[in-house]
Amino acid sequence: MRSVNDILDLTRGEVEELISVALDIIENPKKYSEKCKGKKLATLFFEPSTRTRLSFEAAMYELGGNVLSVPGASLSSAAKGESVADTAKVVSCYADIIAMRHPKEGAAFVAAKNARIPVINAGDGGHCHPTQTLADMLTIFREKGRFDGLTVGFCGDLKYGRTVHSLINSLSRYSGVKLVLISPEELKLPEYVKRDAIVPNGMEYAETSVLEEFMPELDVLYMTRIQQERFSDAAEYQRLKDSYILTADKLAAAKKDTIVLHPLPRVNEISVKVDDDARACYFKQVENGKYMRMALILKLLEDAERTKVKTPLTCEKGLVYGKHRCNNPRCITSQEQEIEHIFREAGEGENKVFRCVYCEKEAD
Ligand code: NCD
Repeated sequence: MRSVNDILDLTRGEVEELISVALDIIENPKKYSEKCKGKKLATLFFEPSTRTRLSFEAAMYELGGNVLSVPGASLSSAAKGESVADTAKVVSCYADIIAMRHPKEGAAFVAAKNARIPVINAGDGGHCHPTQTLADMLTIFREKGRFDGLTVGFCGDLKYGRTVHSLINSLSRYSGVKLVLISPEELKLPEYVKRDAIVPNGMEYAETSVLEEFMPELDVLYMTRIQQERFSDAAEYQRLKDSYILTADKLAAAKKDTIVLHPLPRVNEISVKVDDDARACYFKQVENGKYMRMALILKLLEDAERTKVKTPLTCEKGLVYGKHRCNNPRCITSQEQEIEHIFREAGEGENKVFRCVYCEKEAD
């Protein structure tokens, strides 16, 4: 049995296989319309969502399955203080697979460790969001036909933008991908993403705070929302919230076949006028997300039928118990009582560090 906490829990080959299945679903939807008959997906969303939750639910219905849903933390036992671990054990008694979104980093990992059924991370705080990456990968594939050799610009909140972290990890497995990281100083990509994904894979990258600087070179421009809910300082959010707005004028400098992506929701990062430009692919991305979630649900349910033994997750390698404590207030360890603080070794030689398995924060 497998869960997906991080995009790296799927190999590059498996992501490509999911893309093939999604393309087949698009061509032959009838073939898949009863594949999950009698199966139940539980969507546990403890943080706002429109697209991701509806997309999971639509995916399950289109596979002929059923959905059990907790529409928000305030209406579930989480409001009474139930732990994520207990919730996962309880829901395992009702459903066959879980999709979970939670504001704390590492929550989906805790759920996966405690559930008897597969768990899909539908976003854990500012950490990662593997199924958005699946949507992004299918969109890039359908629009560009390849991943190798692309120049991809990420713009906006690269610090808290979990979709950015996951997509960089996924692209790091291809050759010749160049990254342009466009953000204000305060919202730069976390060091751990650079150290784990970019540097060891020899990816070329540039950092800038100016959206226009590399515009003519980009094959993909991935715009993101400034993640208001992750800021501890409201004044800082006010100062940074309008950092980037992609207008038709700015996009005029891009190539004719550049594609513009955005995980949505958009606040004001992309002017509505850009929507009519053929290069704007963010609504196609939404639709692609449903097909990739269908392919993923199918894969995990088939796998769970084969074996109940859990395949270890990527973050469970090189574990160190009891030596460090995580002090990140956004980590699930700050909320879940009696949770074991577990770290893992990352990097080599002088660069060796210990990272919290839940949120990736380095040990002090
Ligand atoms: C993203 C998320 O939740 O991280 N949205 C989504 O899943 N489509 C991006 C965001 O909220 O800005």
